[in-house]
Amino acid sequence: MKKKVNSTVLSQEELASDIYSLWIESELAADVKPGQFVGVYPSDKSTLLPRPISICEVNDERTALRLVYRTAGKGTREFSHLKKGRNVQLLGVLGNGFPVDECEGKDVILIAGGIGVPPMLQLAKELSGFAGEGVRKAKSVTVVLGYRNADVFLKEEFEQYAGVVIATEDGSIGTKGNVGDAIREGKITGDIIMSCGPMPMLRAVKSIAAEMGAKAYISLEERMACGVGACLGCVCKTTHKDAHSLVNNARICTDGPVFDAEEVDI
Ligand SMILES: Cc1cc2nc3c(=O)[nH]c(=O)nc-3n(C[C@H](O)[C@H](O)[C@H](O)COP(=O)(O)OP(=O)(O)OC[C@H]3O[C@@H](n4cnc5c(N)ncnc54)[C@H](O)[C@@H]3O)c2cc1C
Ligand code: FES
Repeated sequence: MKKKVNSTVLSQEELASDIYSLWIESELAADVKPGQFVGVYPSDKSTLLPRPISICEVNDERTALRLVYRTAGKGTREFSHLKKGRNVQLLGVLGNGFPVDECEGKDVILIAGGIGVPPMLQLAKELSGFAGEGVRKAKSVTVVLGYRNADVFLKEEFEQYAGVVIATEDGSIGTKGNVGDAIREGKITGDIIMSCGPMPMLRAVKSIAAEMGAKAYISLEERMACGVGACLGCVCKTTHKDAHSLVNNARICTDGPVFDAEEVDI
């Protein structure tokens, strides 16, 4: 059930240029699926709406959650000044999350780019048996991460849980190019792909999955307003009709952000 809760900042550090990692003690951590997100309220009342940020990971005790975010504007810049002990209001837990159970016994590829990288960390942990009851869910997990340059973040943390392949646009680390180039260069194949990142990357993931004959799930981190299904500010086109409105639309904030790649028109 969605609720607005008072939570407490445990720590904050800058991981890379303009990329911050924020641990928050919150009751919301008790019931989080990889790929879900929270709305973080700025305290500045001129920025009314909560900012959607994916949950990067939760601690083993499920008492705290971690957000990794890039400073983009007023809201996220304010968050980057939050210090230990500060109160912060969160709305959550929001969205559907990745279908972890579908990965049972499968060769799974996690593909992420830029600020789509953080939500894949909890997913990698759970699929590889490093979270919850410690049961390995996937047969194998390969993580393909795309960055602009050598200013990478979370790479070493992913390496604790899975094989990691890197692509950088300037070629400073790993394959020069994008995640598609790294997959072709490494001849990486799998049964199922889970992905989060910018729209051009997600379109490429759809084609990569089709070439590979793999099933793909993509997380659409589009702009949002209310975050709870009320304003229709986040609709995307789907191949099937919504049961209530009878139109080919879905609300990313409530029906997503994770969709079967075959079912959305991107
Ligand atoms: C489901 C979901 C999960 C997200 N998870 C993360 C995350 O884990 N880490 C993270 O850094 N960001 C994430 N985002 C993006 C994040 O919500 C925005 O960067 C943030 O709301 C910007 O708020 P602001 O007040 O700082 O900037 P604003 O002043 O609102 O905007 C500043 C700039 O950021 C751009 N922007 C705003 N929202 C988005 C967006 N959704 N995608 C791309 N550009 C945007 C605007 O076009 C503008 O150029 C997520 C978004 C969604 C919808
Ligand atoms: S953001 Fe309001 S309906 Fe999705």
